[in-house]
Amino acid sequence: MTVETGRLPAEGVQRMFDRIAPVYDAMNRVMTGGLDRRWRRITVEQAVSPGDRVLDACCGTGDLAIAARRHGATDVVGLDFSAQMLERARHKAPEIEWLQGDVLALPFEDASFDSATVGFGIRNVDDLEVGVRELRRVLRSGGRLAILEITTPRGLLAPFYRVWFDRVVPLLGRVLPGGAAYTYLPASVRRFPVAEELSRLLEANGFGAVRFRLFAGGIVALHVGEAS
Ligand SMILES: C[S@@+](CC[C@H](N)C(=O)[O-])C[C@H]1O[C@@H](n2cnc3c(N)ncnc32)[C@H](O)[C@@H]1O
Repeated sequence: MTVETGRLPAEGVQRMFDRIAPVYDAMNRVMTGGLDRRWRRITVEQAVSPGDRVLDACCGTGDLAIAARRHGATDVVGLDFSAQMLERARHKAPEIEWLQGDVLALPFEDASFDSATVGFGIRNVDDLEVGVRELRRVLRSGGRLAILEITTPRGLLAPFYRVWFDRVVPLLGRVLPGGAAYTYLPASVRRFPVAEELSRLLEANGFGAVRFRLFAGGIVALHVGEAS
């Protein structure tokens, strides 16, 4: 398990995010040209209804949880295993409940949430199916899950994407704190299922009415499903 293969043990992922926490928000804005804000707003609109109790799993510095709250969710819990990412989330929105925990063993009863979101997080977990099943378990029947994740584009953008992700992003890593994260990032995307496969995995693990849409020419996918 190495950064080059995009597979790290859970403690390695946790340590990596602890290290990049200070620059995480700034890197997001730079790498997406600020578009991540729009993607997060759409993610929340697709999954969350006003009044919902919402879990934002792998919440990091909390932007999706904060967007859910703005969208009218009454009760939002952000969960992540990186203490440093959570520290930043807490600072941004002290009114939200932030919990340290593992998405592979969620510390909640069955059917505790109306909706759940995961932004750029599920790609990092050791066992994707276990993660999806845990998210299903804590959702009520009919509850919605939205997964916003980087995906591998096909078509026109594919060559540009390869240069950006395989050459430019790792170079950024040489000058920024937590540099290994930027070698790990493209490798972890390469090993993650393409959008159609992720839809099938969701359907096989307790979700119906699964659909996805692509952003930024197919670099980012938003999947939404209903707990069946
Ligand atoms: C790329 S960040 C995304 C943060 C945030 N959701 C966003 O949209 O910007 C991925 C986050 O997933 C967290 N993470 C990865 N694996 C996890 C796991 N098994 N349980 C909980 N958090 C996890 C990391 O600590 C990190 O904060």
